[in-house]
Amino acid sequence: MSLLLKSALVFNSPGGLLEKKDILIKGGKIFKIAPVLEKKEHENSQVIDAWGKIVAPGLIDLHVHLRQPGEEGKETIKSGCAAAAAGGFTSIACMPNTRPVTDSKMMVERVKEIARREGVVNVYPVGAITKGSLGEELAEMGLMVEGGIKAVSDDGRPVADASMMGLAMEYAKMFNLPLISHCEDPSLALGGVMNQGLTSTRLGLRGIPDTAEAVMVARDIILAQASGSHLHIAHVSCARSVELIEWAKSRGIKVTAEVTPHHLVLTEEEMEEFDADYKMNPPLRSKEDVEALRKALKEGVIDIIATDHAPHSREDKGVEFERAPFGVVGLETALPLILTELVHPGHIKLEEALASLTIKPAEILGLDAGVIREGAEADLTIVDLDKEDKVDREKFYSGGKNTPFQGWKVKGGAYMTIVKGKIVMREGKVYF
Ligand code: DOR
Ligand code: ZN
Repeated sequence: MSLLLKSALVFNSPGGLLEKKDILIKGGKIFKIAPVLEKKEHENSQVIDAWGKIVAPGLIDLHVHLRQPGEEGKETIKSGCAAAAAGGFTSIACMPNTRPVTDSKMMVERVKEIARREGVVNVYPVGAITKGSLGEELAEMGLMVEGGIKAVSDDGRPVADASMMGLAMEYAKMFNLPLISHCEDPSLALGGVMNQGLTSTRLGLRGIPDTAEAVMVARDIILAQASGSHLHIAHVSCARSVELIEWAKSRGIKVTAEVTPHHLVLTEEEMEEFDADYKMNPPLRSKEDVEALRKALKEGVIDIIATDHAPHSREDKGVEFERAPFGVVGLETALPLILTELVHPGHIKLEEALASLTIKPAEILGLDAGVIREGAEADLTIVDLDKEDKVDREKFYSGGKNTPFQGWKVKGGAYMTIVKGKIVMREGKVYF
């Protein structure tokens, strides 16, 4: 079955121009792109009228937590992929902090196999840096590469030991893998549950200082400089880290960085008191930090937006704030929030936002994706800039309902998600 996207405004990197085009999809690939396709060229095709909408390369989320294996009550590969499709993502990289940790070739292959059978989007498992993510012994990176990993990370747990991190970088470089670092010095973060500052004092909660992040960002940048490996810094949350990344880039050190929608949109002051749906790691920071993050994204100091989609059950989040797990879901709210809070008010351009969700994450992971060209896989996202909606967690496909954005009014989002030429989501409905 072939598919024709008619009169779409096509976003394509690196030029980032929006041009009106017809796109014909055949056999799962982009067959032809032209200003106007003749009727005889697309006979018997299903026609999608994309007039007034944007067609972008399929969105890529480099930072997702699926909970399978081990915590299927929170999320499964199937439900996480459905949430991705609902949010307009065609590819996701999933972090290894499953139970057991994804630290072997067998585990990587298992995740890939379940994703192939049950997932509606492309899944790229991230392999652990250390066995069990315990920080003590390197995981079998070479074997995991054979299993198909595109990156390594101990996300959720920082690699506390600097010599271990240095060694990991040497190996990551050997296998040409980006190393994704969850930067947080445990001795500085100790026991904290939110940002350290006036709000934590007011609420009487133990804080995590921004220095906990920045100290480790600095350490990892130095280690990346020494090893020459590609360091990718996960979920940057504060101005101090931004300064360090800017310095590293100015020195030609191979470092890339991501920021989450929640760190771009919320501050610690907007936390609903003791509501664990605002609890995540790293925590929401100050207004000045949010401003620095927005500026860094705009200027390319921060390369991409990634969600850190971290589903948790109502029961797990329902305990006292201090004991609740860290994490918020993000796949189904990312694009609407970015459009509503950043693009429409003019903080960043649409093209910049889309590049940070397509070509740039593809480059970091080394994927042949993120551009629309003839012959490429037909992974595409149709974006409606004008659709007004209200965030409703009860409608999420994700098993996790832990969002701080419940009830938010949003304008814009994904209209359709196409993976390998197949419509997997249309107007909010996912097709398995
Ligand atoms: O908030 C977070 N949740 N941060 C992490 O680093 C891990 C994640 C999770 O797995 O729940
Ligand atoms: Zn993390």
